[in-house]
Amino acid sequence: MKKILVLGDIHANYPALKAIQNYVRPNRYDRIINTGDFTVYSTFPNETIQWFRKKNKKSICILGNTDKRIIRILKGKKLKRPKKEEKRVMYFWTFKNLLPENVSYLKSLPKHSDFTIGNIRIGVFHGTFDDEDESLFPGTPERRFRKLAKDSLYQVHIMGHSHVPYYKIVDGVHFINPGSVGRMFDGDPRTSFAVLNISAGKIGVEHFRIPYQVEEVIKGLKKNNLPDIYTKMYRTGKKLN
Ligand SMILES: [Fe+2]
Repeated sequence: MKKILVLGDIHANYPALKAIQNYVRPNRYDRIINTGDFTVYSTFPNETIQWFRKKNKKSICILGNTDKRIIRILKGKKLKRPKKEEKRVMYFWTFKNLLPENVSYLKSLPKHSDFTIGNIRIGVFHGTFDDEDESLFPGTPERRFRKLAKDSLYQVHIMGHSHVPYYKIVDGVHFINPGSVGRMFDGDPRTSFAVLNISAGKIGVEHFRIPYQVEEVIKGLKKNNLPDIYTKMYRTGKKLN
């Protein structure tokens, strides 16, 4: 049996990542996937990136849209989006506080990846293979999933970006979103992740929601004088802007 820990949309929320670590003991997993968005909205981008760097041999990580924007700023390019000042502050705080070795790591990452385990081909995307910024939800019309399944090179797609956990099998192709480790939108402030089990060609997926030390995130925001709206966002588990 192969076990894969599926994480994504961590958004620098290291207290949430630590809670998952204590809950699942990642050493017991064959692979650890990160669907991107390591950075922005919490104050622990370095700790988050270092956690994956230490697990470099078994982790498969890709960039998300927030990471790509940080790389844009690092290259001296203009940040066109987001437009809201309170969001831009979070990007520029991350840009100023990222350590050089973590900048190098981020810059080395691909926009999508794939691997084979137990004879199953698995693709890892932030959005979809068609569009890195596409958000899929459990309620996305079936015809969209069918089109992706028809054009798919993979038996399993692991995807992030929408921050909504789901598992769907459409025309024999498995679509998994673990939800967001670090920035919840559904009114449940607990962290979200998934476990993918592969045994003799059979695929099983479990989703988890577990509590974590939200107040550690709040402390980090307050210490750095970051917008109060994010304190509320973490406590309520709701997207407020
Ligand atoms: Fe995200």
